[in-house]
Amino acid sequence: MRIANRKVLETLPELQVELRARISLAELTSLGIGGTTELLRIHQHDTIPELLNLLDSNHIVHRFLGGGSNLLVMDGELPFVVMQLVRPDPDIVIEGNIASADAAADLGRTVTFCAKHNLGGMEGLIGVPGTVGGALRMNAGAYGTQIGSYVREVKVYRAAERRIEILRGEKISFEYRHTGFAPDDMMLAVKLELPSKPYQEILQGIRICNEKRRASQPLGQKSAGCIFKNPPGASAGRMIDELGLKGMRIGDARVSDRHANFFVNEGHASAADMLALIANVRERVHQSYGISLENEVVVWNA
Ligand code: EPU
Repeated sequence: MRIANRKVLETLPELQVELRARISLAELTSLGIGGTTELLRIHQHDTIPELLNLLDSNHIVHRFLGGGSNLLVMDGELPFVVMQLVRPDPDIVIEGNIASADAAADLGRTVTFCAKHNLGGMEGLIGVPGTVGGALRMNAGAYGTQIGSYVREVKVYRAAERRIEILRGEKISFEYRHTGFAPDDMMLAVKLELPSKPYQEILQGIRICNEKRRASQPLGQKSAGCIFKNPPGASAGRMIDELGLKGMRIGDARVSDRHANFFVNEGHASAADMLALIANVRERVHQSYGISLENEVVVWNA
């Protein structure tokens, strides 16, 4: 989508929104797949309600991008513009046991920054790619840790109310890879309340998680992490592996040899290749186990 409306183009700088023309989502996502559109880089949280009013009243369809690490985007000219927060400096501030992080902060850096201030708890999240905002949205988790457990409050743009609100952690439901936020809500910042721990102890936990991840996941390859959620009491990766589907490919989209719930882009996979592979594997699992796997990866296909 291209923004051609003059009124919109003139208002964007007033809202401290920077427009980047013809960006490729393949370059902004860890899967390396996705077509082209315009990118709106947001420098000020406070201007978001006005920005969205402007886009909506001019019928400009928009999507909100975090770190792009859990996302599969359609190919070609995209029928929406993409908005993204620009990371402020500083992006994380520590006061006592509270770490205040902007949604655009890198999750891994947040974990290590907190560790250096002797704040732990999030060791399991090391190596989960993406931003703090994306992790919050999905309630990212690994090795028994989920970010939702540490949330004291969230600053969020509530799409239904069309305003920015501060929500207390206990008012938000954090479930397995799911939160109570509405699909169009935008995470803006978070206050995490973390337990005090000596740096060396946190570092040890971080090392263990890093090693486990290196041993079981295809880290150097283009992927969106796990494609499917684990169904209750079962492992999607194990089922796909048991069916002998590791290495199965459609075009350049391939089921990883290392972890069967990671689908990798081995070169120039298209969204269509990846979607076909997902559908195929889901069907095979359904036939054999009677379980319909639910996507963990977020798909932008219209
Ligand atoms: N397994 C296989 N073959 C495989 C992959 C896994 O047999 O190809 C077996 C393992 O041996 C293990 C079981 O399946 O017995 C579970 O595997 P693993 O420990 O790798 O965990 P997972 O359930 O596949 C989940 C999260 C990961 C997270 C890890 C570590 C989901 C969908 N995935 O994977 O999160 O990193 O646990 O905590 O919940 C993600 O969300 O994108 C993600 C990668």
